[in-house]
Amino acid sequence: MIKHLTYYYFWKRINLIMYWDVMSSPENPQRRRVLVTAVGAAIAGFAVGAAATSALIQPRVEERVVTETTTQTVTETVTVERTVTVERPVERKYAREKLANISELAPNKPLFRKYMDHDVAVVKLGIPAVGGIGPDRDVVAFSLYCTHMGGRLNFVSSTRCFVCPIHYTQFDAAKSGMAVVGHATEFLPQVMLEYDEKSGDIYAVGFNQLVYGKIDNLA
Ligand code: FES
Repeated sequence: MIKHLTYYYFWKRINLIMYWDVMSSPENPQRRRVLVTAVGAAIAGFAVGAAATSALIQPRVEERVVTETTTQTVTETVTVERTVTVERPVERKYAREKLANISELAPNKPLFRKYMDHDVAVVKLGIPAVGGIGPDRDVVAFSLYCTHMGGRLNFVSSTRCFVCPIHYTQFDAAKSGMAVVGHATEFLPQVMLEYDEKSGDIYAVGFNQLVYGKIDNLA
């Protein structure tokens, strides 16, 4: 088989060379047309080869689906405006109220007054007293209600005590209202006083403890 193909190949080559010799001979009237055809074929072959080469070196374009996961840390500053209503407690304090003038007081004769709606008595004892004001430090004032069960008190000049008519407790006015006799165990609420030396006026400025029956002296 190979042998026959070899003979065929050489036979075709000889025919082609003989054909070329004949066709390229200057005496052959078809010589010009053969040359043009040969040159054209060469150019066409070159063009086809270039195109094929170009096609082979073209970059290959592929489409791929790529899945990417991106993690980001975002720092954000947010400004929020709010209107807040703040209720401030109303300042509550004892009033400073004039109770009497020193010229109105006689020894052991109480004056009955109102201080911030509380019934009180102002009395000049004639002896220095705990919490006493005035030139002799003997003017004091007290709530008029017993600390046992709220009986309204009377003043007894001989003992300088406020005495309860219900269970007979006695509160010593010279000793800051201490209960010296009777059922009550608490001191009588004493009114805190201030004295104006120029005018002789006596002012109440507060209580030293809760008045009987009250949960707030300022209420
Ligand atoms: S009420 Fe005053 S002693 Fe009882």
